[in-house]
Amino acid sequence: MIKIEELCSTNDYASEIVSKGFVPDFTAIVTEFQTKGRGQRGNYWVSEAGQNLLFSIIVHPTEIPIKEQFILSQAVSLALREVVSLYCEPVSIKWPNDIYVGNKKVAGILIENSIREKEIETAIIGIGLNINQLGFEGVPNPTSLRAESGHELNRDEVLAQFLSRFRQLYGEMSTNAVAIRSEYKARLYEYGKMRQYKDATGTFSGQIIDVDADGQLLIADANGDLRRYYFKEVEYLL
Ligand code: BTN
Repeated sequence: MIKIEELCSTNDYASEIVSKGFVPDFTAIVTEFQTKGRGQRGNYWVSEAGQNLLFSIIVHPTEIPIKEQFILSQAVSLALREVVSLYCEPVSIKWPNDIYVGNKKVAGILIENSIREKEIETAIIGIGLNINQLGFEGVPNPTSLRAESGHELNRDEVLAQFLSRFRQLYGEMSTNAVAIRSEYKARLYEYGKMRQYKDATGTFSGQIIDVDADGQLLIADANGDLRRYYFKEVEYLL
């Protein structure tokens, strides 16, 4: 484990060390504060110094076919969901990989793969998990484990719990993909519930019915038509 007080971004630091030579699986880079934390969709990830978990894990999932790379995202999400659920309920996974407590986001995941000769040579799994922070600014619906559970938590303990569960699930990605996929589906936020979504054509009512092996979200709309989306092509309306 590499601990550094302050970094631009643990994902950027991970990619820097990867570019310099081989880094063993499960190497974790942890920081107290990021000056340029990155989120999904080109957003920033803002987190108070010393309050939360900000880390990246490096793995080399070369056995996973590229078209099945979503299984890694599913394994990470499931491990993180389980750990959060040790402290509060109900915890679900908002497709593709946000962790929610009720209707609030407690953690975000940013996975960056480098592909070489049809293999995922390296995956950098960046995780921001809100632990002890209580006030948040500028984000729509954030929460933390402390806000949900009512008490302060030991961040090292939570990190150790996550790493241990993630290692297990990572080891099962090839042998137990069917179980991982179905558990992921069972844990999806708003799964099977009629609600409002928005895509390029406008807003519509629909329900999530499945997630493909390549991570596409399947929504059946009110007319019973199936709509498929890659990440960023559909939005959940609150
Ligand atoms: C999201 O937008 O939900 C993903 C957020 C991912 C944030 C984490 S914090 C540690 C790692 N380093 C980064 O720059 N981003 C990820």
